[in-house]
Amino acid sequence: MLTKLRRHFEAVEDRRFEKLVDTDRAQDFAASAGDMRLDYAKTNIDAEGRALLIDLLDRVGLAQKRDAMFGGAVINETEGRAVLHTALRNLDGGPVMVDGADVMPAVLATLDRMDRFATDLRSGAFKGQGGAITDVINIGIGGSDLGPAMGVLALAPYHDGPRCHFVSNVDPADISGVLRKCDPATTLVIVASKTWTTIETITNARTAKAWMGESVSNPAAQFAALSTSEDGTAAFGISADRVFGFEDWVGGRYSMWGPIGLSMMIAIGPDAFRAFLRGGQDMDRHFCAADWLQNLPALLALTGIWHNQICGYTTRSVLPYDNNLSRLPAYLQQLEMESNGKSVNMDGDDLLVHSGPVVWGEPGTNGQHAFYQLIHQGTRVVPCEFLVAARGHDDDLHHQHQLLVANCLAQSEALMKGRNLDEARGKVADKFEGAELERQAKHRVFPGNRPSITIAYPKLDPFTLGQLLALYEHRVFVEGVVLGINSYDQWGVELGKELATALQPIIEGADALDKDGSTAALVDFLQKHGV
Ligand code: F6P
Repeated sequence: MLTKLRRHFEAVEDRRFEKLVDTDRAQDFAASAGDMRLDYAKTNIDAEGRALLIDLLDRVGLAQKRDAMFGGAVINETEGRAVLHTALRNLDGGPVMVDGADVMPAVLATLDRMDRFATDLRSGAFKGQGGAITDVINIGIGGSDLGPAMGVLALAPYHDGPRCHFVSNVDPADISGVLRKCDPATTLVIVASKTWTTIETITNARTAKAWMGESVSNPAAQFAALSTSEDGTAAFGISADRVFGFEDWVGGRYSMWGPIGLSMMIAIGPDAFRAFLRGGQDMDRHFCAADWLQNLPALLALTGIWHNQICGYTTRSVLPYDNNLSRLPAYLQQLEMESNGKSVNMDGDDLLVHSGPVVWGEPGTNGQHAFYQLIHQGTRVVPCEFLVAARGHDDDLHHQHQLLVANCLAQSEALMKGRNLDEARGKVADKFEGAELERQAKHRVFPGNRPSITIAYPKLDPFTLGQLLALYEHRVFVEGVVLGINSYDQWGVELGKELATALQPIIEGADALDKDGSTAALVDFLQKHGV
């Protein structure tokens, strides 16, 4: 299915795509969803390549598969589950049926309960044993941490509730650093775990309960839980009125739209949280209605397929020119790599193409002074995804925001245009001559012809964040459908968990009988040094 695309790539690989980029292309190779614009003009995708890519979407039956997902079909076949995180933001949509029952009344009732709890906590009506809540600690990992942690930071300008802290790592340094900053008598601990079996989260939750128990008579009264496990949360002692449940058709890395987003709702308030949901719902509607040629998730996915599976570029860099989005690359790492890092297709057959790329990144302009050197002059091509808002949140520092935007646009321009040897000579001709001029000039050549896309929007407000995250979620879905994989399971995380459980007693002193030589030697070394 990809053969024609590969042939097309071979035919156009060596051309300078910069020459394609005129004002017509700038309009034609861009699309919008509301106020959000995706520009993919600075890539080597031309009209023929795009037609082949779009043909791919029809061949894999994307429209039917999309409708099946939104309609509650069991598309997570290896776990026998529907995939319905979209129901969590279906604020004023119709019924969503699972096994013949509409799930929306329960979804909206839970949202209302979250709303009431967050409102009471923010107003001081819900108190800790030492007074109004000043600090909220969310204990969770993976999807039960990255979404709300990223979101609270992304929406820092809207944060008007209590301080929020996030503990994820089982490394005691994580929780002890946070506990030191909080007063147990005025802290709410939210334990976020879909399964309630994640060892890191349960260990940290126990540590937090013990810490709180040293200062207050009823520590469990200052705990809330976000989980699908009623039994687990009850056994931990958390009263049912502070347990916010959800169903197994919400995948961990897709879960921040529901109860897992409680800390974010507490931080920015229920109205702003609902605006975030509306942004996600807006992107859902766009994904379901727009032609592929105007469809942001489809186009974003096609740039991914083109760069990874066709051009063979093995990584992609996400570069938000927004310091508040500094956790977005980590969030997208889980979203994209846990979803599409698979080796077999839905039928269990080996994939004949590579699965999803390595996703990485840092906010600009910081990255410019760190790894952009490799992006510009290294031997590997790294497709870049720039994110930028027209306006920041500090109007009195707008000139700094303008400098930020200039840097963002300059990077994509530099990646595309590069600098040839003649231009490089011109830069140093006044300093060197002869062979030394040639040598020095070569170090200053930028190959250019390096692809990037830019996602631009007016301002990073809650609605826009919702649009953006739903855009990336649907991109993952589309890429997964094209690859023929199940984007919604994560068996690849299991083996490490099992081996860690088996290793714990060995670390504590039991014999490392069945361990390989390297692992046994490392255990020995660490034990000699006090583990
Ligand atoms: O280890 C992977 C994973 O299962 C993720 O998919 C999930 O987001 C994370 O662990 C946390 O799981 P839970 O919310 O069940 O604690």
